[in-house]
Amino acid sequence: MCGIVAYIGEKNAYPILIKGLQRLEYRGYDSAGVALLNGKLNIYKRKGKVSDLIDFVGENNVDGTIGIGHTRWATHGKPDDVNAHPHISGNGRLTLIHNGIIENYALIKKALEVEGHTFNTETDTEVLVHLIEEIQTREKLTLEEAVRVALTKVVGAYAIVVLDKEDPNKLVAARKASPLVIGIDENGFLLASDATPIIEHTKKVVYLNDEEIATVRRDGTFEIRTIGANEIQTPFIHELEMQIERLEKGGYDYFMLKEIHEQPTTIQDAMRGRLNAVDSWIKLGGIEENLEKFKDAERLIIVACGTSWHSGLIAEYIFEDLARIPVEVEYASEFRYRNPVITDKDVVIAISQSGETADTLAALELAKQKGAMIYGIVNVVGSSIARLTDAGSYIHAGPEIGVASTKAFTGQVTLLTLMALSIAQKRGTISESYFKKLTQEMEQIPHKVARVLEKCNTQIEYISGEIKNANNALYLGRGYSFPVALEGALKLKEISYIHAEGYPAAEMKHGPIALIDENMPVIVIATNQSAYEKIVSNVQEVKARQGMVIAIVTEGEKEISKLADYSIEIPETEEPLTPLLSVIPMQLLSYHIAVMRGCNVDQPRNLAKSVTVE
Ligand code: G6P
Repeated sequence: MCGIVAYIGEKNAYPILIKGLQRLEYRGYDSAGVALLNGKLNIYKRKGKVSDLIDFVGENNVDGTIGIGHTRWATHGKPDDVNAHPHISGNGRLTLIHNGIIENYALIKKALEVEGHTFNTETDTEVLVHLIEEIQTREKLTLEEAVRVALTKVVGAYAIVVLDKEDPNKLVAARKASPLVIGIDENGFLLASDATPIIEHTKKVVYLNDEEIATVRRDGTFEIRTIGANEIQTPFIHELEMQIERLEKGGYDYFMLKEIHEQPTTIQDAMRGRLNAVDSWIKLGGIEENLEKFKDAERLIIVACGTSWHSGLIAEYIFEDLARIPVEVEYASEFRYRNPVITDKDVVIAISQSGETADTLAALELAKQKGAMIYGIVNVVGSSIARLTDAGSYIHAGPEIGVASTKAFTGQVTLLTLMALSIAQKRGTISESYFKKLTQEMEQIPHKVARVLEKCNTQIEYISGEIKNANNALYLGRGYSFPVALEGALKLKEISYIHAEGYPAAEMKHGPIALIDENMPVIVIATNQSAYEKIVSNVQEVKARQGMVIAIVTEGEKEISKLADYSIEIPETEEPLTPLLSVIPMQLLSYHIAVMRGCNVDQPRNLAKSVTVE
């Protein structure tokens, strides 16, 4: 987490840094700061959001065509003005911004203290900038060489940019396990955690690789070396395809609402060119090129975190149901540390919106070492996971900025469904007629999602008003709807701070039923075609204990609608595809409740969108 941005060139750095930080705020927003060099070094940092930093800077001197900026998600040291970045070296010469964690900082700090260094903050970052200073002065090295030597002594993850007060004509940056992109503008360079601060200045970017160090200079030259071996690398210059409008709210109050409403388009985009229901084919480049691996896979292992893990659970149902391949879905953070059994007959699929989640990356690295083929389902083009995997598919949802994931989730589920269908067809585990039916129905999903958004929003807003003061909520579902229940509960927790749990409906009687009374809203996803009678019984069990039932049902459904306090009707579809529709009311419900409770929907407390620390 944390967002970093830096600029060197002919333009004024301050507005570029501030706009960049606003774009990166999804990565952390508990404090922010900038350092600008114009003869004198001016550092401004403040607890709170980038807007608080802007107020704090006010009319102060922000001149300078070189500068660095940071928006923080605290790991070491509480979020306050002092611990905010940039951090400065003991002699005041170097300033540094950092995303990541220096794991051995305590040891380095002790050694530096022996050398006479004193520290003003509780951060690991301040230790790093002191270490660079110590090496630079003691060994009389250039800045890039001092940074390089310092990084050979560091254990952990970092994306850093260093500014030297004595040299206003260059910036030095490096990365390991935290992302860093270099934008090459006609009149200068931008460096940032992702491409969003860069896109309005230039489309030409270089993605720094792990253990690389870059020097960018005011005269337009730059070079990249490896940290360990100190070899010069030939940078590959990518052309960005991102559209700037997709980074704006476009008339919506919140990015989350915009992203919810984008779903008919983003689901369509995830399928574009990949599905043809008329001729009964699905083509996914990554699958076609690795067909034998997928056909012969003895097991699929899905690793992911958060909402992406819920997409993985849906994939488990679909892959086992249609392609008859055993699937395990793992929290990446658990998988990486529990000595899992992985063989070269396994295919490991990582699902990640950002493509940067530290645990998912580490899980993939482990799987790769053990010989499994690794496949990525990723949204952010050029991200670390996308580059690490042997093959993969992008979901093409465009930038997702609201911290609570919505369109990335439906994009992931869409793509995983296409994958399962394609592999099922190739393995001969699905009849041609059912394949055709499902692909035809897939083509209808964007329209049906649009219908849910149009038809249900007002009703959901009303229901939100009725339950907005609840302290707890229970989400129930069976089969394909169980992961949707988990996702619904997560959405509510994340943005409205109401405690919520998702449960398989039948498991309710093994515990959660004890909590049900008239104050407990129970959201039941009851779109099942199979086991329908069983979910009716579960609803009855809740009603018998005076729970308030909000049921998501298929249009025209009668039985559950009669029992429920509120029933939200969604269009009928084939059962494996229902999550793509039933999750929409879950998203709207949590959105409206969060707005009514006065919560910051796009930037919920303590969370960050891209979790680049363990
Ligand atoms: C964070 C975000 C979630 C996301 C999860 C996994 O917790 O707030 O929205 O689902 O990370 O992120 P990824 O980028 O790997 O999908």
